[in-house]
Parts: sequence; structure tokens; C-alpha cells
Amino acid sequence: MRIKKIGILGAGRAGTALARAAASAGIQVKIAGTRPARQMKYHLMQYAPHALAVGAGEIAEDVELVALMVPQEDLDDVDTDSLAGVLLIDATNRWEDEPLPAWFQDSLDRGLSSSEAIAEHFSQSRVAKALNHISHWDLDADRAVKAEAQRALAIATDSPGDTAVVACLISQLGFTPVQLADLAQGRSLEPSGRIFNEVLGAEDLIQRISEETAR
Ligand SMILES: NC(=O)c1ccc[n+]([C@@H]2O[C@H](COP(=O)([O-])OP(=O)(O)OC[C@H]3O[C@@H](n4cnc5c(N)ncnc54)[C@H](OP(=O)(O)O)[C@@H]3O)[C@@H](O)[C@H]2O)c1
Repeated sequence: MRIKKIGILGAGRAGTALARAAASAGIQVKIAGTRPARQMKYHLMQYAPHALAVGAGEIAEDVELVALMVPQEDLDDVDTDSLAGVLLIDATNRWEDEPLPAWFQDSLDRGLSSSEAIAEHFSQSRVAKALNHISHWDLDADRAVKAEAQRALAIATDSPGDTAVVACLISQLGFTPVQLADLAQGRSLEPSGRIFNEVLGAEDLIQRISEETAR
């Protein structure tokens, strides 16, 4: 299996880094931000020259998956219907102190991980947690640097089929995919854990996941 076409929702640091990395891996990229597609021309010319700008409502059309790279505090503005039926990679993190949407805060208060909260809200999509624990710099690093680092990136989903799709994407981007037990285990990838932003090979990543899960 090879991934041929992805959508990216969010055209900031993370979204454009993924767009560049995917394009250099031969993957077609559609990308959307808050602005209409025609207003993204100069932004994309500089930050993601090979990506096709589309409206946010069209991001899931004719792609194998959509990477969600919108700040969590802005998720109320994302139309859940437009993502119905798609595999949604939740690459978001709690990073700022801005208040979260009420549904998000409510889910966290009930003890859910951030990806479980997102899965509950985007209930018409299939949610996987991935690509959140790597910085935009490292995501878009030179392929030779990536090959040298042999960095592993984790995937947390409740679906083996979706894990396989995300694993393909991660491999094509130049990283080693590591499958976690389920979506709930994606909690260990959040900024408060010992995996976030750490350059780890597969063995070390698996070791840290099991330590985090045992805590
Ligand atoms: N930066 C990293 O290294 C990194 C790495 C992994 C994961 N992440 C996560 O990815 C998310 C984005 O981070 P970032 O650093 O890329 O932030 P950023 O540079 O501030 O970019 C955020 C982007 O989201 C877009 N956006 C906001 N609301 C939107 C909506 N309703 N629909 C479509 N697009 C929307 C913004 O569009 P406009 O510009 O049009 O307002 C902007 O392009 C965060 O959750 C972050 O934790 C970041």
C-alpha cells in the first residue's frame, strides 16, 4: 500500500511542514486554513509550494486521510460534517493556555485523552492520534537526516485497518511507525508525557510507552 493523496486542515507551521514533507515523498497534498483558497496563494508559494489550496469544507474530498493540524482552541470552527467518513489524524496538542471549546473541556474533565475527546466530537470520522509528538522542524527534515535518525513515530487508533494506512504515511515520510494498543493509549503522546518531542528509535519509543502506560 502507498498513500497517494492526503488533506491537511490547518496551514500553519505544522500543516505546511507536513505538506512539504509529503510532497517531497511524492504524495499529493490538499491544504486548507481559515481563509478562502484564493487568498492562500502567496502563503503557500512560500511555505508549501506543491500543495493545492482548497476550502476547509472540501478538505476530505478525494483523499485517503486528513491530518488535523488546527489549534485545539479553534476546533469549534471546524465543521464536523465536512469530515464525515474520513480517517482523521489528530496531530493536535494542548499548547496554549487559551480556553478550549466547551465540549473539549467537558471530555477532558470526564477523564478522556485529547484524542478521545476529538473522536467523540468528530464522531462521523475515524480518528487516529499521530504526528503530534514531532516538531514541524523535524517533520520536514532532510531525508538523509531522517534516515540517519531512524526516528519512530507512534500511531494510536482503535482500528487495525486505519493503523496500516497511517503507518504507510509515516514510512513514506521517512520515519518508523510504531503501533500503540488503542486510541486511549495516545494519551502517552501528549505534551505532558516522556515521548513528546523526543527523538527515539522504535525500541526506545515502545519502552517509554510501556513505562508511561504503567504510571
Ligand atoms: N508547530 C509544531 O511543531 C507542531 C507539531 C505537531 C503538532 N502540532 C499541533 O498542530 C496544531 C497547529 O499547530 P501550528 O504550530 O501549526 O499552529 P499555527 O502555526 O498557529 O497554525 C494554525 C493553523 O490553523 C489554521 N486554522 C485555525 N482554525 C482553523 C479552521 N477552523 N479551519 C482550518 N484551519 C484553521 C490557521 O489558519 P489561518 O492562518 O488561516 O488562521 C493556521 O493556518 C496544534 O494543535 C499543535 O499543537 C504542532
